[in-house]
Amino acid sequence: MAHDTVVILDFGSQYSQLIARRVREAKVYSELVSWTTPAEKVLALNPKGFILSGSPNSVYEAGAPTLPRYVLESGLPVLGICYGMQLLAYNLGGKVAASQKREYGPADLQVDVPENPLFRDWAIGGEDTANLSQVWMSHGDKVEQLPPGFRPLAHSDNSPMAAAADVARRYYAVQFHPEVAHTPQGSTLLRNFVVEICGCTPDWTPASFIEEQVEVIRAQVGDGRVVLGLSGGVDSAVAAALIHRAVGDQLTCIFVDHGLLRQGEAVQVVETFEREQGMHLVAVNAVEEYLEALDGITDPEQKRKIIGEKFVRIFEREAQKLGQIDFLAQGTIYPDVIESAGKDKKDAHVIKTHHNVGGLPDDMDFELVEPLRLLFKDEVRQLGVALGLPESLVWRQPFPGPGLAIRCLGEITWERLERLRQADAIFVEELRQVDMLKWGTQQSFAVLLPVKSVGVMGDGRTYQEVIALRAVTTDDFMTADWARLPYDLLARVSRRIVNEVPGVNRVVYDITSKPPGTIEWE
Ligand code: XMP
Repeated sequence: MAHDTVVILDFGSQYSQLIARRVREAKVYSELVSWTTPAEKVLALNPKGFILSGSPNSVYEAGAPTLPRYVLESGLPVLGICYGMQLLAYNLGGKVAASQKREYGPADLQVDVPENPLFRDWAIGGEDTANLSQVWMSHGDKVEQLPPGFRPLAHSDNSPMAAAADVARRYYAVQFHPEVAHTPQGSTLLRNFVVEICGCTPDWTPASFIEEQVEVIRAQVGDGRVVLGLSGGVDSAVAAALIHRAVGDQLTCIFVDHGLLRQGEAVQVVETFEREQGMHLVAVNAVEEYLEALDGITDPEQKRKIIGEKFVRIFEREAQKLGQIDFLAQGTIYPDVIESAGKDKKDAHVIKTHHNVGGLPDDMDFELVEPLRLLFKDEVRQLGVALGLPESLVWRQPFPGPGLAIRCLGEITWERLERLRQADAIFVEELRQVDMLKWGTQQSFAVLLPVKSVGVMGDGRTYQEVIALRAVTTDDFMTADWARLPYDLLARVSRRIVNEVPGVNRVVYDITSKPPGTIEWE
C-alpha cells in the first residue's frame, strides 16, 4: 500500500467501522483491526498512528480488552476514543472509575485549549451556531485523574476532562464520539489527528485507487481469464467496471435474470455493461426456471435457499460453456471482510462468498479476484462514478440477493411479482421527485402482503391485496428507524398505487424500528 496508514484498534464498539470511514473521508487510508490481532500483522501495515475505539466494557473488569504493548512501544501518535481514552489513561498511570450517572446523548463541549492541533478549525459555537459544539457521549466510566504528562483540552458539564492530551508524547484522548454524525465537527477532529498530528498525506482518492488497482489486477490475472457474476447491485457492478478497466476482454460477466429484480433493472444491466461499457456479457433469462422452482414455496428461508442454489447451478453451467476460466471475481467489500474476520475470530483473509452471489461452492476451481475488499460502501460508490457508471446505478439502494422473492410475501407468481414491481416503482419515483431517495431514507421499498381486504371503488366492493410501504433511516443497516416521510408524500403514493396497480386496494405504512423489527419483512 503506497498510502500513509492509520490503524484503528477495535475494542468492540458499535461505532468502530464509523471511525475508519471518517478517517478515509479525510483521504487518509485506515484499517480496522481487532485488538487481539497479532502484533506483527498490525505492524506490517506500517501505521503512522493508532486510534483506539470505544467498547461496551470497563477497563477494570476482569477479562476486559487490554491495550496491546506495541501501541505505546511504537512511539507513534495515539488517539483514544471513549473506552480508548480510559484504556490509555489506565495504562499510563491515570485513574478510571464508574461515573455517578451514565452519560448518554448530546453534550455541549467547551474547548479550553483551542490552539491545540486536535481542535484546529473547530468552530466555537456562538449564539446561532451553538449546536456546532455539540458532541455525542455514550459512557458509564470516565477518567477521574489524568496520567502524568497529560492536560485537559476541553470539558462538558458532566465530563471535566472531555478531551485531553500529552502533547510531547503525541497521546490524545476524547471521552465523546467524534465519529458519529451527532458530533457535527467530529470529522474535523479526526482529520486533525491523522493529518496534523500523525502527519499522514491525504492522498487516498478514487483516482489513486483505480490507478493502483489496475496494476494489482493486471499482475494477478496475467493473461488468464476472469468470470464475474453481476447481480444488478452496486458492488458487483463496480468490481466489473474496475476489472474491465484493467484486463478488458479477459473478463466475462454472467448476469442471471431470475425475474426477481426491480422494475427496469434487468434491462439497465444489459444496457450499461454491454452497450455502454462494451463488456463481454452473458445474459441468461432464467425467469421460467426460477418461477418453477419457487412454485408453492412460502417459507422465507426456503425461498432464499432455492434462489441461492439455483444461482450456483446456472452460474456453473454458463461458466463451463466459456471454456478455461482461471479467476472468479467478486464484489466483496470491506464490511463483509471485517464481519467474516470477526465471526471466525481469525482475522483477515477469511473469505466470505459475497452474499449477493448467493454463496458459491468451495470446490469451484478458481482463484478469487476481489478488488473492493478494502473499500466501504461510500467509497465503492465514488469509485463507480469515477469509472463512468451511471448515477442511477451507483446510488441505488441496497437490494437483497433473493430480490423481490422476500418482499412478495406468500406465494410467488409472475402476476404478484408484477403487482409488487409496479407499486415499488411508484413509491421510488415519488421519493425521487422530492429528493428523498438518496438522502431521506437509506432503504425504501414496497412489500406485497398475503392478505386481502375489502374496499370500495366507484360503486363496487373490492376484495384485493395490500401493499405495505417500508422506508428506513440507518447508518449501518444493523439498527434502523422508520423514516418520518411527509404525509402528503405518503398520500400521493397511496393514491397512485391504488389507482394504478390492478389487484391492490389498500396501502399501509410500516412504523416499526429495527430492533425489534427487521428491515425486510421476510
Ligand atoms: P434485515 O431485514 O435483516 O436486513 O434488517 C438488513 C439488510 O440486509 C439485507 N438483506 C439481505 N441481503 N441477502 C442479501 O443479500 C438476504 O437474504 C438478505 N436479507 C436481508 C436487507 O435488504 C437490508 O439491507
